[in-house]
Amino acid sequence: MICSNLSAANGRLTFAGRDTVELAEKYGTPVYLMDEQRIRYNCRVYKENMDRYFPRALPLYASKALSCKRLYEIVAEEGLGTDVVSPGELYLAKSAGFPMDKVFFHGNAKTDADICFAMDCGVGYFVVDNPDELAAVDRFAAERGMEQRILLRVTPGIDPHTFEAVSTGKVDSKFGIPIETGQALEFARHALSLEHVRLMGVHAHVGSQVFVSTVFYDTADIMLRFLAEMKEKLGYEAEMLNLGGGYGVRYTEQDPTVDIGYELSTVARHIREGSAALGLREPMVLMEPGRSIVADAGMTLYTVQSTKRIPGYRNYVAIDGGMTDNPRYALYRSAYTVYLANKMDQARDFVCTVGGRCCESGDMIQENVALPAPERGDILAVCTTGAYNYSMSSNYNSIPRPPIVMVDGARDYVAVHRETFEDLARREA
Ligand code: LLP
Repeated sequence: MICSNLSAANGRLTFAGRDTVELAEKYGTPVYLMDEQRIRYNCRVYKENMDRYFPRALPLYASKALSCKRLYEIVAEEGLGTDVVSPGELYLAKSAGFPMDKVFFHGNAKTDADICFAMDCGVGYFVVDNPDELAAVDRFAAERGMEQRILLRVTPGIDPHTFEAVSTGKVDSKFGIPIETGQALEFARHALSLEHVRLMGVHAHVGSQVFVSTVFYDTADIMLRFLAEMKEKLGYEAEMLNLGGGYGVRYTEQDPTVDIGYELSTVARHIREGSAALGLREPMVLMEPGRSIVADAGMTLYTVQSTKRIPGYRNYVAIDGGMTDNPRYALYRSAYTVYLANKMDQARDFVCTVGGRCCESGDMIQENVALPAPERGDILAVCTTGAYNYSMSSNYNSIPRPPIVMVDGARDYVAVHRETFEDLARREA
């Protein structure tokens, strides 16, 4: 199976060692399950290997993949920092007691209110995206009589050959300031001239679902050359180099397996050699894995509602969730592995499209899935849904969001409650 926390026993799918059909009965469907031990394991892969291979390093969990208080508690216990991209994520992290000095605040359109809120929370670092924000951060820090630590977001001009809509490190990007055009150097010069910001280093993110470390080597090469240019022209030596998002995950058997520990060791060697060649002190290296921390620690369970056979066309299976809890197929045509959790011992000879419950034809979870012939009441499991599912969920069609249930060995508990109809009406005037 695609991840070691999946198995089958007595014809039923198990997740984190637990019977998924029983969990579906206990909590109802749709339900997001999260495997606490797998989250911790994934955190340790980054933390232990970065500690081992880099002289100074810190992995930051990228909140955008999944943001809820219980997750921040777990991530903090594992010793990671976190990156937040909105005051909402920051609020949840702070409410969970996340150490604010390890929080990095991203975003290309931070409002004055966002900036003040983050400063008043005591956020450790701003990742400043543009000169307008830089001026605002300096002004609000001055008002508070403080010096705000910052990184500058720059674009190294790399196309990581991932899906266009998720590649954010190219020169033509709404994120950051390009190195290639000389603008990033001026951005740094300006930051160094300001009294109330302390420039700690630079940040670049080149893409998501990355399987080959060459992307990180190339990014590191460009970034180290930029650090050397800053040293030469501005007399400034950066403390921190943030390489952005983490490695890819296996959604299907066709996806490669990444040995993250080994890959990190090669990135560390690359940066050590690159720094030495340029006469730079090796910077503290930060990475921002989101998907590879939570994706394979998640699974969504649904109940089959109907099966439709359209001769000469295709078969449809309708479930009690869909694009409201997982918009990734509708948005990106993302591949997923799907099982009928209560029919694991039956032949998978029914090829179908798994459609959601929304009033929209594009509301599909997956096409061309081979399942045992489904019947109303069967439990359908979609694997690897821990990242960018709950965090991208919506209330389209006024559908309440599913709960997040944590599974931790023999223990299971609700981390986020199922949304109710009353919740839907709560904000109405
Ligand atoms: N850091 C920055 C600045 C990012 O923009 C991202 C992802 C990450 C870290 C985390 O990357 P990861 O380790 O998760 O690959 N909604 C899309 C993914 C968008 C990712 C955007 N940035 C999806 O569902 O695939």
